Amino acid sequence: MRGACACAVVCALVALCAAGGPDEESLAAAERQLLALLGLPRRPSPRSRPPTPVPQAMRILYDMRGALPAAAANTVRSFYHTATDLDDRFPQEHRFRLYFNISGVPGDEVARGADVTFQRAVGVVGTQRLLLYDVVRPGRRGKSEPILRLLDSIPLRPGQGSVAADALSAARRWLKEPLHNHGLLVRVIDETVGNESIKFPHIRVRRRATDEHEEWSAIQPLLMLYTEDARARTARERGETSLTRNKRATQRKGHRPHHRRKEAREICQRRPLFVDFADVGWSDWIVAPQGYEAYYCQGDCPFPLADHLNGTNHAIVQTLVNSVNPAAVPKACCVPTQLSSISMLYMDEVNNVVLKNYQDMMVVGCGCR
Ligand SMILES: *[C@@H]1O[C@H](CO)[C@@H](O)[C@H](O)[C@H]1NC(C)=O
Ligand SMILES: *[C@@H]1O[C@H](CO)[C@@H](O)[C@H](O)[C@H]1NC(C)=O
Ligand SMILES: *[C@@H]1O[C@H](CO)[C@@H](O)[C@H](O)[C@H]1NC(C)=O
Repeated sequence: MRGACACAVVCALVALCAAGGPDEESLAAAERQLLALLGLPRRPSPRSRPPTPVPQAMRILYDMRGALPAAAANTVRSFYHTATDLDDRFPQEHRFRLYFNISGVPGDEVARGADVTFQRAVGVVGTQRLLLYDVVRPGRRGKSEPILRLLDSIPLRPGQGSVAADALSAARRWLKEPLHNHGLLVRVIDETVGNESIKFPHIRVRRRATDEHEEWSAIQPLLMLYTEDARARTARERGETSLTRNKRATQRKGHRPHHRRKEAREICQRRPLFVDFADVGWSDWIVAPQGYEAYYCQGDCPFPLADHLNGTNHAIVQTLVNSVNPAAVPKACCVPTQLSSISMLYMDEVNNVVLKNYQDMMVVGCGCR
């Protein structure tokens, strides 16, 4: 077969695993190739120790295995408010400015969804309304009023654990004009009183002196940005290719490799290949999974090609010609005919948590092609 049977991701992974030995150069080449396939310019090296905790909302999305709430998105990034001197101008809880620095999002990513999640305060009474604005132009004290664009308006009811407000159009604007990201203005008004003199607790926007760091990081406002990268967009626009991409295999754990059979010629079939990210030295930036079953395809495609070998008409003809004249053409190749995606949770260069779905990472079926 030697090189005749092309494959992409799985080959790079096999190379990485096989390269466990001394050959540093090919290991580095394999790592570069794999990072390129994952759409990363270089291996992210998280700076902060210990690493930022993964927000609960990201964990939940990861556990859902690929079903992202925004159509067409294949990546989720989470952001917290970056504290600045401006925060002091908003001393109250019912009027606060949030600044999410999304300037690190790669230029090829298109926003498909964005929402800010707020946790409700303890002891809520009455009904209030949350208004979220994009600060298009900040006001200047005594000179001009700010230009605000209303993004979302959400009734707050007692008993809610959290509320989410839509910030997609602001996120789109910031990605287009990063210099004009002046943050979001959060207002909470009392629906019964009709003015802003709210004495009741409503949502948590600012850290209180009594909040422990961990406590606050679990309840502070969180921006979740759903994007589609260029690679996923191209794949989607190309539509379904000969490989069926949509079916997701459940990622089963503890799948033990079958014992190797001894026959000289094994028939084309899927074989186990567990890729352990710790072996590759990636466990410091990949948060989850720790590894996964990638599988690979190997084996003979003998004449006559049996139905279960998933051969194309062309493969059947090629196998036939090969049986008559082996010198004329090689046999058909044993390759993946159906692949599925996996989800990965990792830290990017600026220590933001990213959740990405990667297509074609796991072999579902093999065949002769
Ligand atoms: C936003 O983050 C980038 C790094 O991604 C940094 O260079 C920049 O200074 C940050 N901007 C602000 C206003 O914090
Ligand atoms: C807001 O409502 C309260 C209670 O009805 C009232 O006392 C207060 O003067 C109002 N404030 C403003 C700015 O209208
Ligand atoms: C052929 O494809 C089906 C569906 O993708 C798969 O279940 C089957 O195992 C494949 N055959 C081989 C030999 O892998």
